[in-house]
Amino acid sequence: MISTLKETFLHYFGGDDSGIRVFTAPGRVNLIGEHTDYNGGFVFPAALTMATTLLARPRMDRQINLIATDLKQMVHANLDELEKYKGLKWGNYQLGVADELQKAGYRLCGCDLLFDDKVPLGSGLSSSAAIEVATAIALVSLGNTAYGAEREIDMLEMAKIAQIAEHNYIGVKCGIMDQFSSAMGKKDMAIFLDCRDLVWEMVPLEMEGCALVLAHTNKKRSLGEGKYNERRSECERGLAFLQKALPGATCLRDISMADFLRHRDLLPNETIQKRVEHVVYENDRVLQSVKALKEARLNDFGRLMNASHDSLRDLYEVTGNELDTLVEEARRIDGVLGSRMTGAGFGGCTVSLVREEQVQAFIKQVGAAYENKIGYPASFYVSEIGDGGREIL
Ligand code: GLA
Repeated sequence: MISTLKETFLHYFGGDDSGIRVFTAPGRVNLIGEHTDYNGGFVFPAALTMATTLLARPRMDRQINLIATDLKQMVHANLDELEKYKGLKWGNYQLGVADELQKAGYRLCGCDLLFDDKVPLGSGLSSSAAIEVATAIALVSLGNTAYGAEREIDMLEMAKIAQIAEHNYIGVKCGIMDQFSSAMGKKDMAIFLDCRDLVWEMVPLEMEGCALVLAHTNKKRSLGEGKYNERRSECERGLAFLQKALPGATCLRDISMADFLRHRDLLPNETIQKRVEHVVYENDRVLQSVKALKEARLNDFGRLMNASHDSLRDLYEVTGNELDTLVEEARRIDGVLGSRMTGAGFGGCTVSLVREEQVQAFIKQVGAAYENKIGYPASFYVSEIGDGGREIL
């Protein structure tokens, strides 16, 4: 697999393979805690084994050349003029990361880069974070070697820089969850992350004979980004109104369920009330889920997953017919403990907690019902939880 990638690399960039280094960074699945990260709340994601693999070789000049295994067009840029490339369709994520790294004081060297992206694009499984984090660790590693810097890579900082690149280059005002998971994930662990204080705990994913099955709607996401930023600003508006009564609250995470019930009338309209209600209760569901998982109460965890989806459908309004269909069909199947959308929504994937012996029946029946109703097939993956970004060769 890596040797084939090396051949592809040499096909595009020539030379021999002695200077090629190999990096990887994964996508993630979020088990619960959706649209809470940018509200300073709790999330509970895990890194997947599906990842971006990145082959990188330093150059003697300031040129940065990018190609991907599923693209034919190479992107050429200069590290000293990165602003010029902001409008690129492909390459924007990588050059955005390069730009933000340099702004943060990292010394980068020119390089040739080949990307092999195995997290399905637009799947809600953070294909973008995988690309960003892989790029960040590759560029910093190459720069460290070129300039003789010994320092170890600060993975948390890589996650933060990748997030800023997404804000400034892609225009999505995302939270920290995806980049954090991609950078910091651990095999067979879920990450209980507090996005206000950036403290986290690794929780062993003991699945007690269950599997986490991902179902991809294969719906093309187009409005996703605009709607995402719209939700974020609705939350910010909601917070501003609640701060009239609760001046100490710095983010919606600081609003308890009791605060919400007491002060909900301060919120200017029903839409904002619904958004805030989702965030407040979703934070609580994360806390309950972490406890349930630690105590091996998988049925309870499944019920919380269901409640999370219903809230994302009815209050946060980010699901849509495709995701709702996958979830409804999943819940009909024996041995499904819970099912919900994962990621930003508006398409992408669901995650379902399924008894192992029912997984094949799940895929068959949900797949058939989905295709019948929606008109095109879904894709299924049984998720494996892997490590975060790192150099592999
Ligand atoms: C996207 C964003 C994350 C998070 C989720 C929703 O994946 O990148 O920061 O907000 O949506 O939970």
